[in-house]
Order: sequence, then structure tokens, then C-alpha cells
Amino acid sequence: MKEDTVLAARKLRKVFPSAAGELIVLEGLDLELKRGEMAAVVGPSGSGKTTLLYLLAGLDRATSGEVEFDSRRLNELPGDELAAHRNRRIGFVWQLSNLLPEFTARENVALPLLVRGQSREAAEREADRWLSEVGLGERAHHLAGELSGGEQQRTALARALVSGPQVLFADEPTGNLDAATSAKILELLVRLHRAHGLTSLWATHNLELAGRCDRVWRLEGGRLAPESRFRK
Ligand SMILES: Nc1ncnc2c1ncn2[C@@H]1O[C@H](COP(=O)(O)OP(=O)(O)OP(=O)(O)O)[C@@H](O)[C@H]1O
Ligand SMILES: [Mg+2]
Repeated sequence: MKEDTVLAARKLRKVFPSAAGELIVLEGLDLELKRGEMAAVVGPSGSGKTTLLYLLAGLDRATSGEVEFDSRRLNELPGDELAAHRNRRIGFVWQLSNLLPEFTARENVALPLLVRGQSREAAEREADRWLSEVGLGERAHHLAGELSGGEQQRTALARALVSGPQVLFADEPTGNLDAATSAKILELLVRLHRAHGLTSLWATHNLELAGRCDRVWRLEGGRLAPESRFRK
């Protein structure tokens, strides 16, 4: 693995069994993400963007092929080490923010640190700091289920970043928001990426979001190709 590469996939294959036979979603996909890069994957609905992000983030395992993260092969890690890897090195933002609605914004953001064994006090202090960073300092005590869509995505971003990950994945982070809110989340993503020296990979249908990236791939037929519209 080259020194400036943080994440690499080789010959990645993902097949889902289905009643109608096997569904091949990723078919020999290769990818290299450089440290500090902001990259996007675009592609039609059902092309496998979410599936790809899950494999790269260690949320699911490939049928075959390899995902290497800072010279560690994710496929070879036992479940508990993979969970620790996700907790410490990966931030993930889902299209629907995936927060616990009955818990406050602060509790949601503190959760990854509690899982890691930090004291409640330290975890909540850190959660508050991140909520302020995403512009939600005033909402720490609101239940997540009572926040607006944009506020939920901000909270989800704070939760993704609270544990100090190296790589931030976001799956359609602006997918369910109106244009104005979506533009604000876009600016926030770019700002956080730069301010925290992150490596970011976003799956998106939002061409403005893709247009801000250093690199854009199109996922089609189970593989990635450079998206020429955005070639720099
Ligand atoms: N757990 C699963 N079991 C079976 N099939 C699945 C599973 N997850 C995804 N698929 C199928 O794999 C294909 C790719 O799905 P995926 O969610 O990765 O697409 P996507 O590019 O993210 O689409 P969208 O833009 O709509 O979010 C789809 O045909 C989907 O039905
Ligand atoms: Mg998807």
C-alpha cells in the first residue's frame, strides 16, 4: 500500500443471494483513496453505492476481494477488532440520520465514546463540543426525534466525528433535505473535512456536492470509472 493511500479496495466483489438467483452488485471493483482526499461516488439508484460504502467502512463484508485500511486488511479482522476499527477510525453518516429518536442530541453524539469506555462526563463534554462545532450547541438537550431534518444531519455528523476518525463516509448526506438546508450541510461537510484533516468519501446524487470533490467516480456495472463531467 502506498504511503499516501489510506484506503484501498482490490477486486472487490459483493453478491447477494436472492430468490431469483444471485444478485451481483460489485464485480471486481478497485479503488484507492489518498490521505486528505475528498471524493464522491455517483451512479444510478441501485448501482451499489451504499453497498460499496458499507464494505469500505467495515459495516459489511465482501464476498471476495480485499479492503485495506492503513495497511490492515479488514476482511481478516475478527468481529470485535472490526467493531473497534469502526469505532476509532471510521465516521459514517447515513441518508436518514439513524439517530436514536428517544435520546437527546447530546446522548446520541456521546454514544460512540461511551461504547469505547469513556466516562459519561468526558463523553458528554466532547459531545457538546462537537454539537457546537456543527452549529447545534443550543440543541444538546433536544430529543433527536424532535429535531428538523437538517439538525438531525448535523447531529449525525457530530456523532460521526466525535471519535476522531480518519475517514468520513457519508451516504447521500443531503438526500432528504430541501435545497437551502442541503446547501448548508454541503458547506458544513467541506468545512469539517478541511478543518479536521479528514479523508472523505461521499455517495451522492447531488451534483453540487460531487462538484466540490477532488475526485468523482461513477459506479456502474459493479465497477468504478472516473466521472468525466467532473474531471479536473
Ligand atoms: N442486504 C441485501 N440483500 C439483498 N439485496 C441487496 C441488499 N442490499 C442491497 N441489495 C441490492 O443491491 C443493489 C444495490 O443496492 P444499493 O443500496 O447499494 O444501491 P445504491 O446505489 O445505494 O442505490 P440508491 O441510490 O437508491 O441509494 C440493489 O439492487 C439492492 O436491491
Ligand atoms: Mg444508497
